[in-house]
Amino acid sequence: MSDRAPGGIDVSVPNVARIYDYMLGGKDNFAADRAAAEQVVKAFPESREGARRHREFLGTVVRYLAGEAGIRQFVDIGAGLPTQKNVHEVAHEVNPHARVVYIDNDPVVCVHGRALLANSPSVAMIEADLRDVDDLWRKTLATRLIDPDEPVGVLMFAILHFLDDPGELVAEVRDRMAPGSYLGISHMVRRPSRAEDVERMSEIYSDAAPGFKARTVEEIKAFFGDFEILPQEQFIPLHIIARFSSLGFSSVARKP
Ligand SMILES: C[S@@+](CC[C@H](N)C(=O)[O-])C[C@H]1O[C@@H](n2cnc3c(N)ncnc32)[C@H](O)[C@@H]1O
Repeated sequence: MSDRAPGGIDVSVPNVARIYDYMLGGKDNFAADRAAAEQVVKAFPESREGARRHREFLGTVVRYLAGEAGIRQFVDIGAGLPTQKNVHEVAHEVNPHARVVYIDNDPVVCVHGRALLANSPSVAMIEADLRDVDDLWRKTLATRLIDPDEPVGVLMFAILHFLDDPGELVAEVRDRMAPGSYLGISHMVRRPSRAEDVERMSEIYSDAAPGFKARTVEEIKAFFGDFEILPQEQFIPLHIIARFSSLGFSSVARKP
């Protein structure tokens, strides 16, 4: 993206989707996003590699769900700007008939997503906000790609830490998922050893996401409710878990 502002976008304010795009080496970002991302890297030098590892984890989870777990439909909430190995691409490598609904509340993300998906009848991109689950689910079902009675893989990767108190919202989504469904979550973690760095991160994100909040592992696990959490090491090598344990916590859980 050049630094000229397309209609309606204030590029002087950093944006979470574009900060992350920059971290991943993407081109859909502006000077304010890059400056914020560089500040994040100062606080967490491991965050650039962490973003890459995070995408690898997402891919591993989707491959497992579409394969071994037999999930044929996915809802990716807070999908972000298209990058390499998007959820539908990974799912289709395993099952070419898998259906995927991407959701984001950022209109620019949605425009990019729709452009990428123009010729993919089994994939949709919708603009909706996790803070309004009724509307989000109604739009999801309106795509006719998601059968509410069939197990679904719901992904909430790197979105919940941008919300002030999303516990109830996640519970509302869990309630709508059929038994045998899976929920994948990744989240910035708050550990006492990195308290100051996390504080710095909240300051950096204060323009882009005023509700930014890193949480303890226990707080993050609570988002799974009564779902059965699968061992993290099933998806991430132990040395990678150890290396990034002060940056984020990620896991997958199955609805009984
Ligand atoms: C850091 S990106 C994560 C992208 C992708 N899920 C991943 O982990 O690779 C977070 C995305 O969540 C979106 N987002 C933030 N708050 C949201 C909300 N309340 N509802 C829907 N999307 C939201 C942002 O627009 C952004 O695209």
